[in-house]
Amino acid sequence: MQILLLGAGGREHAFAWKLSKSKRCKRLFIAPGNAGTAACGENVALNPLDFEAIGRFVIENSVDMLVVGPEEPLVRGIWDYFNQSAALQHIPVIGPSRAGAVLEGSKAWAKQFMMRHNIPTASYRAFSADQLQEGLEYLAHHPLPIVLKADGLAAGKGVVICENHNEAKREFKDMLEGKFGAAGDRVVVEAFLKGIEFSVFALTDGKNYVLLPEAKDYKRIGEKDKGLNTGGMGAVSPVPFVDAAMWEQVERKIVAPTIKGLYDEKIPYKGFVFFGLIAVNGEPFVIEYNCRMGDPETEVVLPRLKTDLVLALQHCAKGTLSKLKLRTDPRTATTVFLVSGGYPGSYEKGKTIDGLESVKGSLVFYAGVKTAGEQLVTDGGRVLALTSYGKDLALALRKSNRNASKIQFDGKYYRRDIGKDLQNWHPSK
Ligand code: AMP
Ligand code: GLY
Repeated sequence: MQILLLGAGGREHAFAWKLSKSKRCKRLFIAPGNAGTAACGENVALNPLDFEAIGRFVIENSVDMLVVGPEEPLVRGIWDYFNQSAALQHIPVIGPSRAGAVLEGSKAWAKQFMMRHNIPTASYRAFSADQLQEGLEYLAHHPLPIVLKADGLAAGKGVVICENHNEAKREFKDMLEGKFGAAGDRVVVEAFLKGIEFSVFALTDGKNYVLLPEAKDYKRIGEKDKGLNTGGMGAVSPVPFVDAAMWEQVERKIVAPTIKGLYDEKIPYKGFVFFGLIAVNGEPFVIEYNCRMGDPETEVVLPRLKTDLVLALQHCAKGTLSKLKLRTDPRTATTVFLVSGGYPGSYEKGKTIDGLESVKGSLVFYAGVKTAGEQLVTDGGRVLALTSYGKDLALALRKSNRNASKIQFDGKYYRRDIGKDLQNWHPSK
């Protein structure tokens, strides 16, 4: 089949790599892609938010399936656009309808959904601008720290954890007064959960689901999880503390009720559900839902997937996922991101990348990389990810870190402690 993949990051390079390995994939297009996806298929210069242009391309090039990497086209309704067009409605879109993408697109809606279906999550209240005074009152009596979340998409910046009440009130007011634009028209005030985070992924056909390997990502820029949040500095899979007992709870309390909730509410959803979870004293809670795969988690999850991804997506599209059993690689996969100096603040682009030929034993997934003549140059904050397999975490990490040190570009930075907190993990910890 001919597949069009939307997106341009490390996640999409990992998708393109995995899709292109399938004999079921005759031709792969990536819009707009990056220098890495260009080696797996054909990049096409289309904006993933320009639905008309995407639809035209799909028809003109006999595309059989659309796979959506990032959330924004989904939240804006690309599934619905295809579904409402007589010429496009027979083309499966891997990704939820707009109604399903609200799981990610509105944190207040996701919270209500979890309440309706009894899914464990932090207690909360949501406020809109006309409830400013009521909200400030509520904050004054809220235990610390307080988690504030802008309701809508805010490019990963919409969550602020406040250590004192004055800061919380100021931030709350700023959000409702437009700090994140329309995303902050409503603000969720949430109790702080103390625990350890991990990510779980399901592929659902709207009724059945299969679970992918779990992962843990490292969001902070600095070692020992210090400093600002980033798009993700690295990831590992599997996660040592996610044992059989934890998986059983995750599936029974969170995944199954979520999929059943979507089904019962008649929300069309054929795609990935990302569960951002936190284990608190051995019990899982939902921190957030995303309506797509994670980045950089995909860079470790897909390399551990042995099943043909195209076959899995075909089952998803046909509603026959109950017939599929996913096979996973028992090895550990780790990924370490090289980022531009200054990121996640301001940084320069266009730095020459050298040393890629000396990388041995790791997969290289490009995010912010483009070609300039014969040269590869940096083109974003997160530049590339080095994914390695190992018999255990330590061995995989050693390869990712060794290869990270071989690649050079002006201002290169990476965390040398990805996965270190998990290396000597004991169930008693
Ligand atoms: P998000 O932008 O939704 O991914 O949230 C960013 C980060 O904020 C999460 O990865 C958590 O580390 C943290 N966070 C969000 N909600 C909570 C909560 N209720 N308790 C503790 N930490 C949280
Ligand atoms: N790794 C977190 C995300 O993709 O949102």
